[in-house]
Amino acid sequence: MKGKMAVGKTTLFVSMLAGAGIMPLEASAECKFESIKAGNQPFVVKPMEGDTPEAKHFLTSCINPYTKLYVADPEKAKEGKKKFGFWSCTQCHGGNAGGQTGPSILDDTWQYSRIVTDKGMFEIIAGGSDAGMPAWHQQVGGNPELMSTDDILKIIGWLRVSYKGKDPEKPWLH
Ligand code: HEC
Repeated sequence: MKGKMAVGKTTLFVSMLAGAGIMPLEASAECKFESIKAGNQPFVVKPMEGDTPEAKHFLTSCINPYTKLYVADPEKAKEGKKKFGFWSCTQCHGGNAGGQTGPSILDDTWQYSRIVTDKGMFEIIAGGSDAGMPAWHQQVGGNPELMSTDDILKIIGWLRVSYKGKDPEKPWLH
């Protein structure tokens, strides 16, 4: 009974997104990623069995559904904050991502301009940088113990909700 209800909810959510035109049911495109490291080499993240609908949506559209979802319902963003702690991002960026040995991820000072889009932020988290940010995605790091696409997207959603800068544009919402 419980399991059935959970499936029902997910299906409802997906069809709501599809109805709102946010999530096309038939996805054919592919989001193309570029490393933030010198040379900006392309890298590939493939949809995998067990990926959530949100992860699959992102990999075809470059749009992270969690960002708008969490902005509308900040309570849900807590799942992103939990992942941020679970994956020890806190070690370098501080408990609330306000900066420690690594930079703040909540202010207006972006190390690379593309981080104002969720795709750009995914590129540095998944693929790492030349200046101390490790690569976290299991497919990019070649290690199944590392993060899934969904984990990274949830963290990005939480970081966007927690944004403390002054840019009224909030490009990640468009
Ligand atoms: C070992 C320390 C370390 C850990 C652990 C770490 N980071 Fe970083 N991170 C850095 C450093 C250093 C930079 C700046 C990189 C640069 O300038 O190239 C950075 C940059 C970033 C940026 C870009 C910030 C900006 O203002 O442009 C994001 C986003 C980010 N990290 C997210 C994460 C997430 C999410 C995790 C956990 C999965 C994580 N980091 C774990 C060290 C770390």
